Amino acid sequence: MNNNSQYYTRTAQILHWLMAIIFIGAWIIGFYSGNFLSYDVDGSFKGQVITLHKNIATTIIFLVVIRIFWRYTHPAPELPNTMSKNMKTLAHFGHLALYFMLLALPITGCLFSWSAGHPAPVLYLFEIPRLVQDNPELLAIVKPLHIWISWAAGVLLVGHILAALKHHFIDKDHVLKSMTQQPK
Ligand code: HEM
Repeated sequence: MNNNSQYYTRTAQILHWLMAIIFIGAWIIGFYSGNFLSYDVDGSFKGQVITLHKNIATTIIFLVVIRIFWRYTHPAPELPNTMSKNMKTLAHFGHLALYFMLLALPITGCLFSWSAGHPAPVLYLFEIPRLVQDNPELLAIVKPLHIWISWAAGVLLVGHILAALKHHFIDKDHVLKSMTQQPK
């Protein structure tokens, strides 16, 4: 299904940029904690940073459900005809992979936290009900999974941003504007 308008709806735009900010923020905080802090040296500060990472990142679970519903009921604008069929297919699969990351990262993150015996808090307001108890076997799987997926998501995100900038500055088409502007 395609959309006759050249622009995403305002709701789709708000969801996109809100999730972009949360995702990038969560990524940087997770990366900082995972690679620059250790419990031996930084003690409770590391705990506070991981707690911040979780409280921000869990919101993605709720937002992505709304976003997928909105995407189904409000199809995206068509890609420009100047793009080859192969590039359109690549863009399509890139977007699917990004949606996969938006689901897989918070899910593996929550499983990581629960199986290590910790909660999955949301915005310091409430906790997502625990679906698994302390489980070292599961932890041994979901911990590396969360880290690998976060790296793959980082690469994909950089590709996504570079593609958007290429559309805007080199191809000079409407792709980036479709996510920032509304019809006059
Ligand atoms: C969009 C969502 C998320 C993103 C982008 C994300 C990203 C990351 C990144 C980049 C790391 C560091 C990986 C490394 O060590 O190199 C990380 C670690 C971690 N994440 Fe996430 N994450 C997300 C969701 C979650 C959620 C929902 C939870 C738990 C409720 C969680 C729990 C953790 C924990 C416990 C670590 C280990 C931190 C450490 O060892 O210091 N993450 N995450």
